[in-house]
Amino acid sequence: MIKKVSVNTIQKIKNNGEKFSVLTAYDYSTAKYLDEAGIDIILIGDSLAMVALGYDTTHKVGVDEMSIFTKAVARGVSRAMVVTDMPFMSYNIDIESALTNVCNMVKYGANAVKIEGYSDYILNVIKRCVESGVPVMGHLGFTPQFLNTIGGYNIQGKSFDATLRILEQAKKLEQAGVFSIVLEMVPEESARYITENLTVPTISCGAGRYCTGQVMVSDDMFGKFSEFKPKFARKYGDMKSLILNCAKQYDYDVKHGLYPSDDEVFNLAEDELKQLDLHRGAKC
Ligand code: KIV
Repeated sequence: MIKKVSVNTIQKIKNNGEKFSVLTAYDYSTAKYLDEAGIDIILIGDSLAMVALGYDTTHKVGVDEMSIFTKAVARGVSRAMVVTDMPFMSYNIDIESALTNVCNMVKYGANAVKIEGYSDYILNVIKRCVESGVPVMGHLGFTPQFLNTIGGYNIQGKSFDATLRILEQAKKLEQAGVFSIVLEMVPEESARYITENLTVPTISCGAGRYCTGQVMVSDDMFGKFSEFKPKFARKYGDMKSLILNCAKQYDYDVKHGLYPSDDEVFNLAEDELKQLDLHRGAKC
């Protein structure tokens, strides 16, 4: 029987000085293959707003859309932990609506949720989720839902003081009960210091080599999303070229009568065909 990755597995990996992998997925078949490949956590990131839905920021995706993608991914996964990103304003209005939205994601198949930020209100949301049985992944450093208040895609924790501030925020998240914390766009040395001073594992999203986990947006990794490539994303494939080449070849084949071939059509039984040919002959 497949052993499902849990919060305990993730903590043990940190305690043993090992590493775990996190990738985003938004659809059933991608999730299935990432799970089969051994990825430990599959994140339905709100990055799907940009890479799957074509919005210009993550702000524009809502709970309804995240729900559809969560259901699709959860159906494809057997081993990995499935984590859904709570989208912009789905947990910021009041505790009741936050818990309702979180609870629905769990009903749709998420094993945990990810929440950005560290305010007293957010800490309370995290506590209430954990008390209700929902593991929470925190997210500090550059937090895309705060893009407009941060003022741009800026590296966070760039000084000793700023590093200490992130560590302080991380410790509060840890006390509130998160099982891991994403550090996004933080200098490697700062992320290392923060990681060394926490019990729970950190997950690097452009935060260098010393975090326990690494996360990447799968469309960046596959070379599918080509509008921009963050410095920390590594392109492992060229799906854009693959899709373009397949589509161009198909277009050519259709227009030159090369698709479908004899092997790709259904045929009538011989006696039925004879009748059809006789009928066709009679009409001419
Ligand atoms: O939305 C997302 O995909 C994320 C990860 C990149 C951490 O938040």
